[in-house]
Amino acid sequence: MTAMRPQPRPGVLDIEAYVPGKSSAPGVAKIFKLSSNETPLGPSPKAIAAYKSVGERLEEYPDGSASALREAIGRAFGLDPDRIVCGAGSDDLLHLLAYAYLVDGDEAIHTTHGFLIYPIVTLGAGAKPVVVPETNYTADVDGILAAVTKKTKLVFVANPNNPTGTYLPFDKVKRLHRGLPANVLLVLDAAYAEYVRNNDYEAGIELVATAENVVMCRTFSKIYGLAALRLGWMFGPAHIVDAVNRIRGPFNVSDGAIAAGVAAIEDVAHQERSREHNTRWLAWLTEEIGKLGLKVTPSVANFVLIHFPQAKGRTAKDADAFLTARGLILRQTTAYKLPNALRLSVGTEEANRLVVAALRDFLAKPA
Ligand SMILES: Cc1ncc(COP(=O)(O)O)c(C=O)c1O
Repeated sequence: MTAMRPQPRPGVLDIEAYVPGKSSAPGVAKIFKLSSNETPLGPSPKAIAAYKSVGERLEEYPDGSASALREAIGRAFGLDPDRIVCGAGSDDLLHLLAYAYLVDGDEAIHTTHGFLIYPIVTLGAGAKPVVVPETNYTADVDGILAAVTKKTKLVFVANPNNPTGTYLPFDKVKRLHRGLPANVLLVLDAAYAEYVRNNDYEAGIELVATAENVVMCRTFSKIYGLAALRLGWMFGPAHIVDAVNRIRGPFNVSDGAIAAGVAAIEDVAHQERSREHNTRWLAWLTEEIGKLGLKVTPSVANFVLIHFPQAKGRTAKDADAFLTARGLILRQTTAYKLPNALRLSVGTEEANRLVVAALRDFLAKPA
């Protein structure tokens, strides 16, 4: 008699729970976790010190409006702090946007290999995820626009996208925005923006500044190295900031996260080192893995998607087992509808070299 017990709203039980990247390899002494796009350089030492300093006053609630952090972000990016909302990771903000803007029966669009959180927050809000095919593992603007109906309320675009590493240049983002009805909210999820070097890329700041229906989400989990603290932020029009602020947890960002976030965003030299490391090793991994005969989707982020053949003994699953046995943990991408691929985060020099050597051995061994 299921009717006699509390029922979640329709959609909730259709959610396939998010499974994070693996972080262990049983029986292997030294592990290289390359499955969650974390930075191999770690956070700024100044962020670690700032985080530790908070330990002296754990009995106090944090500043619920995270003013110091919003101001630091505002200074760093030239933004009005009043148009910034901080969250417990950008996941928090994606959830809040879905709850604020979707009602039962609405539709929210994302692309086939888009970030897994989009269908989760959409179904959680009682709405319907509409999945639009990609072209060459890249979001297809015309496809997205063709999928818009009267029920569409949200469009999620990760730019760059995870797990493909591809991106939409700014002219395409603008074309997407121009084609959307004014009542549809475009969410530009720019979690990997700091890594992109391409001149034709724009994370969303320019568009948000001039439009009433665009928000940009950012994270401290990637280049800033603060994934453990759960910290993200969004920049949006005043009316959207107001709506999100009404429903967010009043203390959704902890004191430690605020303190570390301020120090991290102010340590530009550390960010630059992390970016330099990534630029160098992203290119190296793409080239070296390509030379082994495996297809690598060109990436602008801090990871690469490696495609494997479907031949017996050479599949992504076989490769994953082989690499894991050597302590090299990559991300399986079956949940992203990419069963024949693995996603590899750019790691330390040691880890990167070990992965290429292991892939060489994997391909050389008898199938
Ligand atoms: C595209 C994308 N958006 C958002 C996130 C979530 O980041 P956070 O750690 O801030 O919740 C990730 C994390 O992997 C991501 O890949």
